[in-house]
Amino acid sequence: MDAEQQVRAYHALSKHAPNAYAPGPGHLDWATQPAPFRRYAGSRLLELWQRPLEETPAYDQPFAGPTDPPVPLSRASLAQLLYDSLALSAWKEAGGNRWALRVNPSSGNLHPTEAYLLLPPGAVEAHGLLAHYAPDAHALEVRAELPAPLGQQLAAALPAGGFLLGLASIPWREAWKYGERAYRYCQHDLGHALACVSIAAAIQGWQVRLLRGVAEARLDGLLGLDRDGFHEAEHSDCLLWIGPPAEEFSLPETLLRGLAALELSGAPNRLSRQYREWPELARVHGLCRAPVLPALGWQAPLGYSGNDNPGLPLRPILHRRRSAQAFDGCSGILAELLFAWLRRLLPAHSPVPFAVTGEKPQVDLLLFVHRVQGLEPGLYWLARGDGQPQPDGLRGDFTWQRVHAELPLYRLLEGDARGLAGFLSCGQDIASDGCVALAMLARFDQALAEGAWQYPQLYWECGQIGQLLYLEAEAAGLSGTGIGCFFDDQVHELLELADSRWQSLYHFTIGRAVWDERLSSAPAYPDLRVPPRSDV
Ligand SMILES: Cc1cc2nc3c(=O)[nH]c(=O)nc-3n(C[C@H](O)[C@H](O)[C@H](O)COP(=O)(O)O)c2cc1C
Repeated sequence: MDAEQQVRAYHALSKHAPNAYAPGPGHLDWATQPAPFRRYAGSRLLELWQRPLEETPAYDQPFAGPTDPPVPLSRASLAQLLYDSLALSAWKEAGGNRWALRVNPSSGNLHPTEAYLLLPPGAVEAHGLLAHYAPDAHALEVRAELPAPLGQQLAAALPAGGFLLGLASIPWREAWKYGERAYRYCQHDLGHALACVSIAAAIQGWQVRLLRGVAEARLDGLLGLDRDGFHEAEHSDCLLWIGPPAEEFSLPETLLRGLAALELSGAPNRLSRQYREWPELARVHGLCRAPVLPALGWQAPLGYSGNDNPGLPLRPILHRRRSAQAFDGCSGILAELLFAWLRRLLPAHSPVPFAVTGEKPQVDLLLFVHRVQGLEPGLYWLARGDGQPQPDGLRGDFTWQRVHAELPLYRLLEGDARGLAGFLSCGQDIASDGCVALAMLARFDQALAEGAWQYPQLYWECGQIGQLLYLEAEAAGLSGTGIGCFFDDQVHELLELADSRWQSLYHFTIGRAVWDERLSSAPAYPDLRVPPRSDV
């Protein structure tokens, strides 16, 4: 079997069906639950700061592109970026248990995504740094101070005012609960994290772009993840440029070699008492690592800078975002609000976050409209990709009636889809009790034809869509929930898909949340200091 066929085999094996869930542990072994925070014992800690949430920018502003002018790169601006994207958002407590929530959501709140920074000299300290972000402390753990010549090479390679951020995943965190399906969840979560970082960067006038010129497997060496001492594997997923809008650039070979040979400080913590290998998970990960890819040329498109939410500041929304675990089953919304959400999901309207990878959009939406005043209940299709109705391969008897002058939104069928949406999302009531639920359908064959490395990127796009929906829901006083548990082929049967041209990769739901009163909440960081005046 070639790589593409093996990825297809993994995809089939990791599907859920009503009578057979994907291979998993079958129960939760609390004794081996992985620790949620990676720490490097013995590494030097660089404290970050927290500033009070400000009234600017306005909610709608950063999606259209980085705000102008870019803020200078400093310890305070890095602290702000991380605080607004990957930091803790609250502590929750119930029944003697305490757990943290984060600005970026995660399947099962298991948080496989880790972040590493490669900072040029002068950004934070006189020398360049390789550092790990520790969200529990909101601090950087210094893994290496770059020797002066290497620091100079890094500074020379990067456009002025920016730095590199590597995102990585610890698959075991997800596999502990989800078994072989965990690869999918790691990639969904990575997509959410990409969106969080892009939005937080845009607030500071920074652009986020994926560097395609370094093979993914090589990134492990750059981020120090290939060294001895890791009890549970951690792999890099991508390397991002973050800084003022710039031309695409490459990293010279001598710099890459120098970074990979750095002497590192700090020992990675052990996350679990016991570790179980999931063979298909490891295999698909190896197959999907991106090779060196040709440059695409970084576009800096400007999107729709409308003002759908006048007077609403963005940053409190980023920190307030929560997943609903139940909806009231009766609240509705106006069609205009749904249309504004869908407009936000069009790549041309929101280069932040969709321009990060440079890939063309591959994901369309199947909507289950439950309670939207001005739109009949039923099934709808948002053609995010090419805008065209009736894509090849879908059932022939849908009406494909256009329901909006500008949006490529089409009615497929009228009727009560609440039971259907709940059933398809593994019987979860959240999919039937909201105002609207949706399934994200990816052009699967088209993506895989370009290479197995596109498989994770399809989930990234889904995660980005999910993150925007979380924020849009929160901005409207409602709540969203990502849904990774769904019956894959039952969605495909509904659409009478005869082949694998389209595959459902993620679900989402939005409604008015009913909160669990037994949970108490505490601030994310009660003890953080504001930055000293000299660093602002
Ligand atoms: C990729 C992904 C899949 C998820 N799948 C489900 C799901 O199937 N059912 C559910 O109730 N919540 C699901 N969630 C919501 C998570 O449980 C939630 O994000 C996590 O508990 C953290 O809470 P927060 O979003 O409020 O920070 C999912 C979230 C993500 C990001």
